[in-house]
Amino acid sequence: MRKSLIFLGIESSCDETAASIVRENQDGSIDILSNIVSSQIKEHKPFGGVVPELAARSHVEKIDVIIEKAIKESGISIKTITGVATTAGPGLLVCLMVGMSAGKTIATFLKKPFLAINHLEGHALSPRLIQKIKFPYLLLLISGGHSQFLEVQGVNKYKRLGTTIDDALGEAFDKTAKILGIDFPGGPKIEKFAKLGDKNGFVLPKPILHKSGCNLSFSGLKTAVLHASKAIKTKQGKYDLAASFQHTINEILKIKSKKAMQMFLQNNKKIKNPYFVIAGGVAANKSIRNNLENVCKENGFENLFPPSSLCSDNAAMIAWAGIERYKKKLIDNTKFSARPRWPLDEKAPFLKGAGVDHS
Ligand code: KG4
Ligand code: ZN
Repeated sequence: MRKSLIFLGIESSCDETAASIVRENQDGSIDILSNIVSSQIKEHKPFGGVVPELAARSHVEKIDVIIEKAIKESGISIKTITGVATTAGPGLLVCLMVGMSAGKTIATFLKKPFLAINHLEGHALSPRLIQKIKFPYLLLLISGGHSQFLEVQGVNKYKRLGTTIDDALGEAFDKTAKILGIDFPGGPKIEKFAKLGDKNGFVLPKPILHKSGCNLSFSGLKTAVLHASKAIKTKQGKYDLAASFQHTINEILKIKSKKAMQMFLQNNKKIKNPYFVIAGGVAANKSIRNNLENVCKENGFENLFPPSSLCSDNAAMIAWAGIERYKKKLIDNTKFSARPRWPLDEKAPFLKGAGVDHS
């Protein structure tokens, strides 16, 4: 029988300081023994967005306490861990360095393997924490910094099918929120406003809806929200605009996910039971989850949507990516430097604005 594997995961790529202990048992079942996330929302709120220097300072202040808490809550002795997995990118360099230093120090002191994890791989593999679905599967990653359709072919093997050519979806939510006078980060509040509004109150554009494959674009939508907001005089008007914005996003995701599913099936003709998974902070949005559940049903895909706590930034997904990579012998050493830019599919071209292929 194989040994159980226990990993400490550390995450500090942006504005969450997080640590977690995850154990894969001998029978293959998984226990998230602890999953501690400390958000810096309060620190950044007055500035309307994440301030890198402030974020780094906050990580420095909290990282030891968060790691200690994760170990204590897990009930294990730190000496029994198999290895240490730490987010090494992409993200803010000054923030990444805090988690990396902590992870490297612990690994060195305990003489355990150190694994440098791509934050996006953490998101991409997170559904397998819930259910060990087989590769390949189709992933929609929607966060504050990324919006991509990826074919998850295996650990360390990703093919990007589509990406945003401008704003990330979380960014579009946050900017729309700002226009409506909502504090940072506005995504969750837009969802609340939308519940009170009329989704047909405003007609908003859906950029590149029927062109450029499953690539996405949200910046024109944001500009339209800005124009529409100028005519708003009442609170109800704000609710209507939030509802119309969210509805437009759902319409875009419906068409683009369908396109991505077609591309995925084209690439994997023999697949019998295709899975569609979502990850990233925006995947916490219930309206988007319901919409995508229907899209899956309509297109013959099974859906596996992790709970919100595993969709937004956390260290359990980093510890889990560590276990998955360790089993593939993808082990790094403490010489690994943080990588602020680190695409999952290194071969995919950089797409921005005019550079997009409009086929
Ligand atoms: O993945 P995440 O926690 O951090 C990274 O960007 O990596 O995602 C944060 C983003 C923010 O833009 C936030 O506004 C958005 O996810 N978000 C939401 C919701 N919850 C978080 N957007 C829409 N609806 C939500 N309920
Ligand atoms: Zn993230």
